[in-house]
Amino acid sequence: MGMGEDGLTVKKIRYGTVIDHIPVGRALTVLRILGVRPEGGYRIAILMNVESRKIGRKDIVKIENLEIGVEETNKIALIAPEATVNIVRDYKVDVKRKVKPPQEVKGILKCINPTCITRQDREPVTPVFRMVSSTPLEYQCAYCGTIIGEREILEQLSGIGQ
Ligand code: CTP
Ligand code: ZN
Repeated sequence: MGMGEDGLTVKKIRYGTVIDHIPVGRALTVLRILGVRPEGGYRIAILMNVESRKIGRKDIVKIENLEIGVEETNKIALIAPEATVNIVRDYKVDVKRKVKPPQEVKGILKCINPTCITRQDREPVTPVFRMVSSTPLEYQCAYCGTIIGEREILEQLSGIGQ
């Protein structure tokens, strides 16, 4: 158990998902990406700015009784490239996954080109982005070719300006 968790005495969970090694301040954005809301009924623990055993500090999110899948895991990489997703079963980490940015992202990012077909009010088209670079992270709109980078992705997903 990491020092920070020790200090705050956040319990181990029996079943569920622990998302670890999230950059400081991004825990709530991770929940937002996963579409997990407190009203949804899951018990959630959020630790922010706790000591990491490796280096520096981190955020951690624990969601009881929910196992997130590989596709959701990889969406987390858009804002937390070093995150690990631990699936806990009967108190043990049963599966540990490194996040990996998806090749294609549907729906959660918005094109920044105001004339893009995905931005028109009539006949809404779901935005689709394809990865063009992994370091730095860059995605290209499948409709108009506009490229968005890490800063835009983080701003959009953390809900700034929404
Ligand atoms: N965890 C939990 N409940 C459990 C088991 C683990 O909340 N029943 C949490 C741990 O507190 C930790 C994360 O899940 O935050 C990963 O656990 P573990 O793999 O045991 O920790 P580390 O070995 O430190 O992980 P890593 O190597 O990924 O840093
Ligand atoms: Zn576009």
